[in-house]
Amino acid sequence: MMQFDFTELPPADRYRLLTNFIGPRPIALITTRAEAGHDNAAPMSFFNVFAHEPPLVIVGFSARPDGSEKDTIGNIRRTGQFCVNMVDMALADQMILCGVNFAADVDELDFAGLEAAPCRQIDASRIARTPCAMECRIERIIDYPGRAIVIGEVVEMHVRDDCLDAGGRYVNPSVYQPIARLHADNYIVSDRQFELKKPAAMAAREVAQAPQKAMEQR
Ligand SMILES: Cc1cc2nc3c(=O)[nH]c(=O)nc-3n(C[C@H](O)[C@H](O)[C@H](O)COP(=O)(O)O)c2cc1C
Repeated sequence: MMQFDFTELPPADRYRLLTNFIGPRPIALITTRAEAGHDNAAPMSFFNVFAHEPPLVIVGFSARPDGSEKDTIGNIRRTGQFCVNMVDMALADQMILCGVNFAADVDELDFAGLEAAPCRQIDASRIARTPCAMECRIERIIDYPGRAIVIGEVVEMHVRDDCLDAGGRYVNPSVYQPIARLHADNYIVSDRQFELKKPAAMAAREVAQAPQKAMEQR
């Protein structure tokens, strides 16, 4: 085994190692309202869901190389709101265009040719053909020098009809196949899914079986 002492490692090496090994990371294509009124969009892969009660997502922002804050986090601080658009293969090329560090006056949705649709509870656009969009309000922001972690509360979810089964409850895995970021410029698409169930014989060993079952049936 090779060892890396993170207490001594330069930040760029920590970034390389962490992002090389913690993956795949889901991609949030975040849309916000710019101060001038146009749409802003940028992909973030320091992103995940962390709770459902309350429904919380977390996004990690770093500053640009010149130390300035990215437009997305600036817009989130100002408006208190943002929309997370999930990304599949059909959106991959547009997502990467939105990742260019454009000047603040650039409308990335417009630039990438992405149709905008209105949100219901927040002042931001969502991406019309995303499989799933989540309207979020700031729950809290944790600031570090040169970076910020935004905890957002999901207040509304939009799901494209074909991504759900006939009952409208469960995802349709043959349609909803998000892409995720691996190391550097490498990505993966979730088109090779498999089911993995706990052995039935283990049910008797579950300490908190009843609440878990009840939650799955909700
Ligand atoms: C797939 C992908 C994931 C990214 N993840 C992050 C991230 O988690 N945090 C971050 O600060 N920047 C991330 N970036 C970089 C931003 O998307 C990029 O700096 C963008 O231009 C910021 O745009 P904005 O100034 O409009 O917010 C990512 C870029 C790509 C392509």
